Amino acid sequence: MRDPQRVAVVCPREGPGDISGRLAEVLREALEGTEPVFLTTAEEAGNYFREAQNDFREAQTAGEHPAVHFHPVLFVIALGKTGVNLEYMRLLRLLREEQTLLDGYAGGVITDGESELYTKAVSRELVFAANQAGCAFIGRPLVEGTGTLSNFFVTAQILDTDEEIAYRRSAADLVQRLFAFCSEERKPKRKILVLHASIRRTSNTLAVWDKAEEYLRDDFEIRTLSLQNGTLYDCAGCPYHTCLHFGEQGSCFYGGIMAEEVYPAVREADALVMLCANYNDALAANLTAFINRLTALFRQVRFYDKALFAVVVSGYSGGDIVAEQLIAALNMNKSFWLPPRFAILETANNAGQAMTLPGIGERIRSFAENIRRTLTE
Ligand SMILES: Cc1cc2nc3c(=O)[nH]c(=O)nc-3n(C[C@H](O)[C@H](O)[C@H](O)COP(=O)(O)O)c2cc1C
Repeated sequence: MRDPQRVAVVCPREGPGDISGRLAEVLREALEGTEPVFLTTAEEAGNYFREAQNDFREAQTAGEHPAVHFHPVLFVIALGKTGVNLEYMRLLRLLREEQTLLDGYAGGVITDGESELYTKAVSRELVFAANQAGCAFIGRPLVEGTGTLSNFFVTAQILDTDEEIAYRRSAADLVQRLFAFCSEERKPKRKILVLHASIRRTSNTLAVWDKAEEYLRDDFEIRTLSLQNGTLYDCAGCPYHTCLHFGEQGSCFYGGIMAEEVYPAVREADALVMLCANYNDALAANLTAFINRLTALFRQVRFYDKALFAVVVSGYSGGDIVAEQLIAALNMNKSFWLPPRFAILETANNAGQAMTLPGIGERIRSFAENIRRTLTE
């Protein structure tokens, strides 16, 4: 049985030597009181997690009850000036090759750069790859330090301190939230909210979900809302206090279906399933508008206990980009937690084609089973 204070710290390093500078300070404070196991190369990480998977299997065979629900893993990625860390690239390859390597783990991420760019792009790519390899992620799993730390400007003001201390405190808070999440007892949940902006008659995305829903509908309360054209304005970008004011009334500047139906449905839901056709390598405009306008509700409540799932269908390619957009927006920014393998990703163009893809029935069944397991175990 693994020590409950133990945390795997996956920290790919291109050369020898310890982590230095501000990231070393951030980690020292964040990991205080824990038992970190540092894994600094992809090879080390591969060996460690393969052995862990063997341990989990043996414990399961022996009927041992795990000390924690998930095991914590903290990814720490130093990106330097260029945003390229070659050992991180090896880690990415490992995660994409070994699709069960991180089963049983839940993660958080600290990404540190010397530029204002790349930290978010690399983080969402990493979270997608690790999630596909079985790793869950807590809501708001990312603490990023950009070159100037100007991304901490608002947090520093709120905490009445400077950006560097705000960075350290955010990382310490991340590790605490990660440990709390891993040992949390979960109760069975029943309410699933499904959002889409597609046309029922022709949509491959809806067809995939309809089949998944068949496996779930007897045991869960499933509510589906259509956010088709004309139903939703995008966020007006009101000043903070205006947004807060409308949010407190359970609304938003524009009101409409968002205030009347979507906010109450999101408040009630235990899981959100986003049905996303790939439109120009992005979410359709109405789904983006939904996420933007969720800000008013987010000012009132956090979504840490709500799971995010997705069906992503592309006509040609790029499903990973759409899945990463969901991760950045709803998991990293809006605090939904990410169950292992949160998304089913398919490629189909003509109406009806998705349901004729080889192996589609089994993939949909396993996606539905994943939702069931997440909500009931
Ligand atoms: C406006 C629009 C933009 C699209 N952009 C892309 C794209 O960038 N990449 C791609 O692979 N498919 C793209 N597609 C194709 C859809 O992703 C494809 O039809 C898929 O089956 C999902 O859509 P559906 O659920 O409406 O069937 C686009 C379709 C439309 C209508």
